[in-house]
Amino acid sequence: MIRRMSNRGRLVIGVLGSGKGSNAQAIFDAIREKRLDACVACVLSDVEDAFILERARRAGIPARFISAAPFRTKLEGEAERRYVEALREYGVEVVVLAGFMRIIKRGMLAAFPHRIVNLHPALLPAFPGMESWKQALEYGVKVAGCTVHFVDAGTDTGPILLQKVVPVLEGDTPATLHARIQEQEHVALPEALGLLAARRVRVEGRIVHCD
Ligand code: GAR
Repeated sequence: MIRRMSNRGRLVIGVLGSGKGSNAQAIFDAIREKRLDACVACVLSDVEDAFILERARRAGIPARFISAAPFRTKLEGEAERRYVEALREYGVEVVVLAGFMRIIKRGMLAAFPHRIVNLHPALLPAFPGMESWKQALEYGVKVAGCTVHFVDAGTDTGPILLQKVVPVLEGDTPATLHARIQEQEHVALPEALGLLAARRVRVEGRIVHCD
């Protein structure tokens, strides 16, 4: 039996991640420090020993590994159903992909229409896909950054909520550039969720308005 969080009208977030969870931590910290008026009802991961689950447990947030097998890069079929079911059990309104390394397919999109947001480590529409900071560096761009966007049926193509820019510096390596982008991700994600929590966001086609 799952205990739903008492949310007193606050935005109820479910976080999905596959990795170290620094962006999930940024959300937890923003809520704890009252910079974000929302609550995280659960953290789900497709990687059993992902540190994001440990971070959630330390923050007192329900954390679950849910296998996404047999697929390697997408969430579909029975696995997708298990994720949707868990998110519903926890009363999640908005699903946040914080380093969730799988493509979201139709079933999940239909279960949470316009209510799934993704964090991407590039200034979309440039450099969708994997290791975008590396792609940016190899391309030779002079600015990079991150994007928070709604998820649609494409890969990193949905309407953009918010972006942050960082410079690409002489001597940057993939690791130094990614670290600089991540600093801004930790600002961008709570800020974007703040707009959703304040119910200020309206989507018209591709355009996201913040009233
Ligand atoms: C973040 O940099 C996020 O932008 C990226 O994974 C990292 C997760 O870090 N996501 C993608 O590349 C999605 N295509 P975290 O686990 O420390 O939050």
